Formats: sequence, C-alpha cells, structure tokens
Amino acid sequence: MKVMQRRKFTTALACAGLVLAWSTPSRAQAPRKKLVIGFAQTGAESEWRTANTESIKAAAKAAGHELKFSDAQQKQENQIKAIRSFISQKVDVIILAPLVTTGWDTVLREAKAAKIPVILESRNVVVKDPTTWTTFVGSDFVEEGRRAARWLVEHTKATQGDVNIVELQGTVGSDPAIDRKKGFEEVLKGHPRYKIIRSQTADFTRAKGKEVMEAFLKAEPGRIKVVYAHNDDMAIGAIQAIEESGLKPAKDVLVIGVDAVKGAFEAMMAGKMNVTVECNPLLGPQLMEAAAKAAAGEPLPRWIKSIEGVFPAEVAAKEFPNRKY
Ligand code: AHR
Repeated sequence: MKVMQRRKFTTALACAGLVLAWSTPSRAQAPRKKLVIGFAQTGAESEWRTANTESIKAAAKAAGHELKFSDAQQKQENQIKAIRSFISQKVDVIILAPLVTTGWDTVLREAKAAKIPVILESRNVVVKDPTTWTTFVGSDFVEEGRRAARWLVEHTKATQGDVNIVELQGTVGSDPAIDRKKGFEEVLKGHPRYKIIRSQTADFTRAKGKEVMEAFLKAEPGRIKVVYAHNDDMAIGAIQAIEESGLKPAKDVLVIGVDAVKGAFEAMMAGKMNVTVECNPLLGPQLMEAAAKAAAGEPLPRWIKSIEGVFPAEVAAKEFPNRKY
C-alpha cells in the first residue's frame, strides 16, 4: 500500500478506534496538575530542530510539568530505547518526534499496553495499529512542497526553455522528506519544462547539503537552474557550494528552502537565497495542551495542524524582526 493510502486507511481505523482506545480506564485518566512527560527528540540536525526543542522545554516549564528529554542523535534505536525507559519510569505522557515513519509498531504497542498516551510531534508514523498514538501535532508537509513548486512556477513564468532542478532531500524515510518531494512533484507534473535532474538525501544538515550540492555541480556543469532543499540548513549548505564553484546563488542558481529559520532570512537579505516555505517548530504550547488532555483521557483530533506561510526574498528584511526562530 502507498504511504498516503496507508495513512488514509490508518486514519480511518484510528477514528473508529479512538473512542475505544482512550475511553478505556487508565492510570493516566486521573488528571494531575504536574505531569511527567517523556520527550524523544530526533536530535539537533537543524536550526529548526533546535528551536523545536527549546519551544517544548519552555512550554513544559511554563506549564509546571517535568520534562524528561532524550536526544536520539538521529538514531531510531535511541528513540526506541528512550520510549522504553519512559515506560519503565511510568511517565504520564510520551511525546515522540519520529525520525522515520516506519519501525514503531512494537514500541508503540508497549506504550499503549502501559496505558501511556503517545503524542507525535513534527513528524508522523505509519503503523498497523493507529490507536497506539493519540494525535499528531505538526505541519502539512505535502502542502509545503506544493508551495515551494508554486513559487518556482510563478517566479520563472517569464523565462523560456527547460528549468533544471536539483533536489536535496531530508532524512530518508522521514515524513517531511517523503511529503515535501511529493507535493513539489505534484505541482510540477502540470509543467513539463521543469525537470528534477538530480535528487539525493543530505539528511537535513548543512554539512551534507554542501557536500551533495558540490557533487551535483560537478556532475551537471552549467545545467542547474534551481536547487530545491527540503530544509533551510541544506539550502544554506548548498549556497556555500554554489559560491565556491564560482556561481552566484539566487541568481545563477535559484535557491528554495523550507522552514523559514532566521538563517534563511539572513541569506535572503544578503541576496543569496530566493524563498523559504514556513514550517513552524514552535509547537510547545500546542503540545502541552494536548498532553494535558491526553493525560486526562479527553479526546483529541488526529491532527493538530500548524498554520504557515511563504516568505520570498522581497519581504525578508521586513519580516526578519518578527521571526522567533
Ligand atoms: O520534521 C521537520 C523537519 O525536521 C524540519 O523541516 C527540518 O529542518 C528538521 O530537521
């Protein structure tokens, strides 16, 4: 089954199972003012992720909850270990930022058996039993990909001929990487002159973004018109590679990123990046609200969506003072 089909299927199952799953008596149903929350973070791969961690820590503190924080350093096995440790410590709620979509069935079943609600944040999972998690707090990554492509088509409509694009993908198997690619391709399908000539993962990091872009520039001399990076850190790494190759980023090669971190605004204000599609990492307050509800056994929507925009270079200087991450 394709990821989206599976997701629709799991969402349908989830809706059916939700009432049953969260109305069964549980230790978590006695609401406590001060919760103990275990948070299994992916790591610190990007400016975005650092802002996400800080937002969650600050919101937990403001709500008076105890947060047990685990940094998985980009390893799923570390996240699984952290969840098991949270279960054995009998936390009230677990927040998980799943590194990749698959491989969570067993550990999420263990959390459910221990009657500990699991809230997904910033990335989603694909599991057989969707009642093993309560809600997903995060972005619409497919829409982010569409927004990036729509900006590109609009921005280049006065040009002629092929528009050769290279793509820097996020972590292989992660939700944002799968969906940002999907949304971007979906829009470009209707515009045959836009061609993705190379596409490779750079793991959401600046260092790999630079490394992979260097390889792309060597392999496709003079052909690359656009770099579409699944996050701003990789876009910033790509900018360095473009400059070192003697080309001008944002002019010779258009640079598109996702996240809208301060680093992207600085690059846009310096004339080196063209656009960033927002992905909001400041999910702490929404997560604390969801955690309190989950711990009290209250129903939650399957998806608590973030509201986001698109920031082209023309508005960067005006918007920069308002940016919080
Ligand atoms: O899950 C969100 C993504 O994870 C962000 O776009 C990226 O920067 C981060 O590492």
